[in-house]
Amino acid sequence: MDFSFSEEQLMIQDVARRIAQEKIAPSAEHFDRSGEFPLENVRLLGENGLMGIEVPDQYGGAGMDTIAYVLAMIEVAAADAAHSTIVSVNNSLFCTGILKHGSEEQKQTYVRAIAEGGEIGAFALTEPQSGSDAAAIRCNAQRQADGSYVINGKKSWITSGSVARYIVLFAMTAPEKGTRGITAFVIDTGKPGFHAGKVEPKLGIRASATCEIEFQDYVAQAADVIGAEGDGFKIAMGVLDAGRIGIAAQAVGIARAAFDATVEYARERKAFGQPIGSFQMTQAKIADMRCKLDTALLLTLRAAWLKGQGKAYGSEAAMAKVVASEAAMWITHQAVQIHGGMGYSKEMPLERYFRDAKITEIYEGTSEILRLVISRGETGLR
Ligand code: CAA
Repeated sequence: MDFSFSEEQLMIQDVARRIAQEKIAPSAEHFDRSGEFPLENVRLLGENGLMGIEVPDQYGGAGMDTIAYVLAMIEVAAADAAHSTIVSVNNSLFCTGILKHGSEEQKQTYVRAIAEGGEIGAFALTEPQSGSDAAAIRCNAQRQADGSYVINGKKSWITSGSVARYIVLFAMTAPEKGTRGITAFVIDTGKPGFHAGKVEPKLGIRASATCEIEFQDYVAQAADVIGAEGDGFKIAMGVLDAGRIGIAAQAVGIARAAFDATVEYARERKAFGQPIGSFQMTQAKIADMRCKLDTALLLTLRAAWLKGQGKAYGSEAAMAKVVASEAAMWITHQAVQIHGGMGYSKEMPLERYFRDAKITEIYEGTSEILRLVISRGETGLR
């Protein structure tokens, strides 16, 4: 077993850290308050290869592995979680399914556009009545005599939905077949029939432009189908397995930022004549924070390593996300507590970390659904 990183992995970590510290961290508070989409920073991340980290270079990506992706995600998330959400959707949710199941033309056109940072991607599975029960979608794609499809329906909670040029969409092509009646499409939002709705006013990750989108007689060609008709549910589940590693990394990044700030504060802040880090109650909290942070990091790296080795990793990705998201929630909670009034104030980023951490327990599989996935993997029972 080797716990060291390769030169290539350290290089992308360094690039991500530099952009995160120089550009993202100083603007994070502004984007959190305003809820604006950080377009300039997103372009910069794309120009530096951070929107297609695992995409092979023949499709415009950096051609690196999942560990490199995890290291980069942690750096971006430690500066600002909303930026890392945008990074994760482009890298994992948009590119993964097309790379694995798409045609050569789809890879050259759509994956390249996202990986090179020229365009923004999104992933549209969730609907107003279909979240954890992903098979309950109603958005409908009806095949026409000429082989094209007419798409109608709504999708909700779509990250980057109002700014994305291309979207990986899941729609029902044969409702009577259940999960086997779902088909994946790549959508060009510049075409008629696509509408972006209101941007959700959210508790955290406020700059990630989450919105409802609607299709009204949008025409997709047969060449826009990803994989085969009816493969959509399995494509979505496979993409989410990969995506969960990115969200685990995001949670680690948020937790690390809260932990680092807390260690510094515990050294400097004095009460009753001594640094608060000298009090046993603070010491116990700091020790537990560090244990949870490292547990989360190691599980995330294990899932990334398994994926890189071509081994099964769905359960391990789910474990990493459960543990990392719950660690992020707990660590940011303790960080606010140790900072006292300052933790509650918008003068410091602690309250933002606390708000941002919550989403990692919800999206790309709630902690409850992921426990179901893990348990099914162990027992084989449904
Ligand atoms: N990989 C490949 N295939 C899979 C799979 C996987 N991980 N998981 C299930 N499948 C296959 C099954 O083998 C089965 O195939 P057959 O038809 O051949 O038997 C088929 O899919 C149906 O599987 P299930 O019967 O297990 O399906 P289910 O209806 O019981 O649902 C679930 C399973 C795990 C609960 C699933 O619905 C799920 O993961 N829900 C959570 C959805 C989710 O994560 N949503 C996140 C939205 S995206 C987002 O959050 C983005 C963002 O904002 C950033």
